Amino acid sequence: MNDRIDIIQDDITTLSVDAIVNAANSGLLGGGGVDGAIHRAAGPELLAACREIGGCPTGEVRVTPAFHLPAHYVFHAVGPIWQGGDAGEPGLLRACYRNALTEASNRQLSSVAFPAISCGVYGYPHQAASEIAFNEVHEWLAGHEFPHKVIFVLYNQLMADLYEQLLAGQFK
Ligand code: APR
Repeated sequence: MNDRIDIIQDDITTLSVDAIVNAANSGLLGGGGVDGAIHRAAGPELLAACREIGGCPTGEVRVTPAFHLPAHYVFHAVGPIWQGGDAGEPGLLRACYRNALTEASNRQLSSVAFPAISCGVYGYPHQAASEIAFNEVHEWLAGHEFPHKVIFVLYNQLMADLYEQLLAGQFK
């Protein structure tokens, strides 16, 4: 199983994978963080495609082409804003990963790259978010052929170390 999960430290906009997941907001009109980086790299067509969709509820995912990005699709996932943990945040974050994996499986994609959804502006505690991300993906891959590979793309050493510990712990 662990050969189907990669953990890398990189800029997700540079990856030549089938789909990259965007940590979007419910308006789907771009923003800062990874959302801003993806829109800048994809070009203005991405915003136009998002405008067509007209928004996305928290926990859900909407799919667009990736335009000028090396990836083929962008899966716009709207993560929960951390409010202390009693507003359904864990379930909504789990749903982001599961819904993105469902989109990948429905398209029989080989590779999907995830950023650390909700771990920036949305303030989700990193350890809890990483455990959710890792466990959701691990559980999905145990029961599905697609996607063949999931890449967790972290943007700093601290987050990358967190994921590495989880991966190591899973296969004690
Ligand atoms: N590649 C990979 N990861 C990145 C990149 C990048 N180019 N840029 C930032 N990140 C990381 C951040 O370091 C963080 O760990 O992505 C993670 C998610 O952080 P945010 O982008 O802030 O996303 P999130 O916390 O889900 O907040 C979403 O922020 O940018 C706005 O429009 C977005 O309103 C939405 C909110």
